[in-house]
Amino acid sequence: MKIAVIGVGYVGLVSGVCLAEVGHEITCVDLDQAKIDKLNQNHVPIYERGLEDMVAANRAAGHLHFTTDLAAALKDAEAAFIAVGTPSRESDGHADLSYIYAAAKNIAEQATDPLVIINKSTVPVGTGDEVENIVKTTRPDLQFDIVSNPEFLREGAAIEDFMAPDRIVIGVETDHARKVMAEIYAPFAAQGYPILYVNRRTSELTKYAANSFLALKLAYINEVAELCEVVGADIKGVSKGIGLDPRIGEKFLNAGPGYGGSCFPKDTLALVRTAQDHERPLRLIEMIVSINEYRKRAMSRKIAQMCENEVKGKKIAILGLTFKPNTDDMREAPSIAIIQGLQDMGTTIHAYDPEGMENAKRYLNNITYCDSALACVDSADAAVIVTEWDEFRTLPFAEIKTRMRKPVLVDLRNLYDGQSLKAVGFDYQCVGRPQ
Ligand code: UGA
Repeated sequence: MKIAVIGVGYVGLVSGVCLAEVGHEITCVDLDQAKIDKLNQNHVPIYERGLEDMVAANRAAGHLHFTTDLAAALKDAEAAFIAVGTPSRESDGHADLSYIYAAAKNIAEQATDPLVIINKSTVPVGTGDEVENIVKTTRPDLQFDIVSNPEFLREGAAIEDFMAPDRIVIGVETDHARKVMAEIYAPFAAQGYPILYVNRRTSELTKYAANSFLALKLAYINEVAELCEVVGADIKGVSKGIGLDPRIGEKFLNAGPGYGGSCFPKDTLALVRTAQDHERPLRLIEMIVSINEYRKRAMSRKIAQMCENEVKGKKIAILGLTFKPNTDDMREAPSIAIIQGLQDMGTTIHAYDPEGMENAKRYLNNITYCDSALACVDSADAAVIVTEWDEFRTLPFAEIKTRMRKPVLVDLRNLYDGQSLKAVGFDYQCVGRPQ
């Protein structure tokens, strides 16, 4: 099927490339000429394993095109995905839908009918209705349908998640839209991946409910980890012990410095605002938002405690800046709050991250960036693992000890066990485990 994808950010690019991979004829459109030029030379603007090769292969096979020309992308297209950003609006935490509405208007102006317009961006309940109004008002003659089809991709595993999904959720209101969606996802249905058809509002809410539930799991396990520290229990054992109950599930129970990223913080806040607007406050989700904010900042106090609360003028080595490994994404990364907390206490920060240092410069000031973990810990008073990159799982501690001013390691991702670190002379602390 000939399909246009509007917005070449994370979601649009991965969706477009994967839909081309299963045989559709995909044209991705973006306003950013420089980005499109790069993609037309097979240069991918984000770091996602395997994506660059797939772009090159599908372009070479002629299934995948990049352009700034929306009219050309929509010519003879049967479907158009909207995959533009919905950031948190700074004034009130609501999702900012201006890019969605602008995309809807532009599509309506250029569309050839009939067209199924599919919202892939994360949007509050009822946005599909608003998009329908915009398209109807802009082009009263156009035959079109509006569908909700949220994405459930994890950064760092986005291709895997698209190609082998746990489920595909589709919110449709008409038989024609359902037929077109069934055709788009036929290669996935053929492999047995579950496709759930619901109404549009149900689909829109499912996305927020999923992310908020996962955020709830994290806020919960992080609070239990704090209790573990004072009662001498081990959060890894607790996670395993509760997770083996299939009603709870083992995944997403790793305690850490709080969740970050472009999705959980934004989506939990937007759901809170939607619920407040409908005078049905989701008090549990409100609590999760504040638990997570508190948690990130509390990590800087934990690090200070490891330096006997005398951190002024001390040098702290931060290992890992991105919100999780295998991405260069710094949005809402816990490292930001942790570093700012430490800087407020008067510390000097040296940092190293395998992929995130360029992006980090947009969020953090007064940091010395280093070329490697070893360079970063040079003459540091404490080292802190903030992101669990693989290369931090096998650090050469004997050498690190000789380089540091004081051998102090704060492991916010529980990569090591205290006994082995103590055996090589480190003062070690992790989260939710006996020391
Ligand atoms: C998340 C969801 O997992 C995806 O299903 C969803 O599609 C996506 O948001 C989205 O809405 O677009 P993502 O933000 O890429 O994906 O990252 P996750 O892997 O879910 O991690 C989120 C945060 O939770 C990270 O800061 C991570 O370090 C933290 N986390 C995750 C933990 O602290 N412990 C865990 O056990 C798991």
